[in-house]
Amino acid sequence: MKIFVLGSGSWGTALAINLHKNGHTVTMWTFSADECKRLQRERTNEKLLPGIILPDDIEIVNSMDEAKNTELVVLAVPSFAVAATAEQLAEVLPADIPVINVGKGLDAKHGYCRFSETIRKAMKGQNPVVALTGPTHAEEVSRGIPTAIVAASESRKAAEMTQDVFMNDTFRVYTSPDIVGAELGGAFKNIIALGAGISDGLGLGDNSKAAFMTRGLTEIARLGVKLGARQDTFAGLSGVGDLIVTCCSMHSRNRRAGILIGQGKTVKQAMEEVGAVVEGYYATEAGHMLAKKMGVEMPIVQAMYHVLYENGNARDAISTLMGRAKTHESEEVWITK
Ligand SMILES: NC(=O)c1ccc[n+]([C@@H]2O[C@H](COP(=O)([O-])OP(=O)(O)OC[C@H]3O[C@@H](n4cnc5c(N)ncnc54)[C@H](O)[C@@H]3O)[C@@H](O)[C@H]2O)c1
Repeated sequence: MKIFVLGSGSWGTALAINLHKNGHTVTMWTFSADECKRLQRERTNEKLLPGIILPDDIEIVNSMDEAKNTELVVLAVPSFAVAATAEQLAEVLPADIPVINVGKGLDAKHGYCRFSETIRKAMKGQNPVVALTGPTHAEEVSRGIPTAIVAASESRKAAEMTQDVFMNDTFRVYTSPDIVGAELGGAFKNIIALGAGISDGLGLGDNSKAAFMTRGLTEIARLGVKLGARQDTFAGLSGVGDLIVTCCSMHSRNRRAGILIGQGKTVKQAMEEVGAVVEGYYATEAGHMLAKKMGVEMPIVQAMYHVLYENGNARDAISTLMGRAKTHESEEVWITK
């Protein structure tokens, strides 16, 4: 199959290599002309994926024209660029060609809607959209380390086609009809990963991090269900699966940025030191705005917003969370006997 991968960062590169391994004809689009020339010449991105070489027959281009001849598009750009890239793509992509989005986050330009909504709108509803998301570090996928992921779509046909195209002996793909839950889990877990990093950077314990992750997921699911997601999706690969990998791995930029903040760096210094997109920063603003809009209680997200956007002190934020009024763990209450 002819596949056009938009984005030559770590995730676009890792997925292009995986698709090439499955025998597909892959073309990769770069955002900048300079990056295109450099990749054509060097066939590697030493800074992002050290030691990973792009196979010679993956073509690298800087023009969107390839979309006119493709059978499938994979959108692998940072969250802030999804809307603009989808609009550019819509000008050349024929109707009915499926678009698989692998970016995680929400569309700040359009009222924090999900990316599948942004893409569908850009394509005037003429192309099926799939979210491919889960616990998947590019550093591991590019080296063929066993990984599982979920292809979620309102279209069963598109989800199953995605499964067939990507799946191999090291990359296992499940399907799901709950694209709402899959996208929200993938976007919001980055907030919790930043916070888990802050907890590590402050030198708190495993108990603290486990509590933060678990209660964080409860909040994400609470908002997700209000926005139309299924509760059980948050217990799957795109929910707790992605949360575990992002909060516990040193590959996670969000966690690394959090560690630096916990160690005393400013948010700006931490983002600069990580040197690549820290999606949790943007997701925190999205979570804060949506919680307000939907009237959902999200104390951890509010605490993260205070630290990241209002110059709040992280230790004080933890004291505030620990000092909240007592409550029950699950949403239901007992019927008093
Ligand atoms: N890296 C991972 O392991 C991983 C895994 C799953 C999902 N994702 C998601 O994939 C998306 C891309 O992440 P990444 O890790 O490949 O990022 P990256 O930081 O490695 O690369 C980003 C790429 O985007 C390009 N870019 C910069 N500005 C752009 C713009 N305005 N328009 C289009 N492209 C632009 C850069 O040239 C670079 O090639 C993110 O949403 C991320 O959450 C990443």
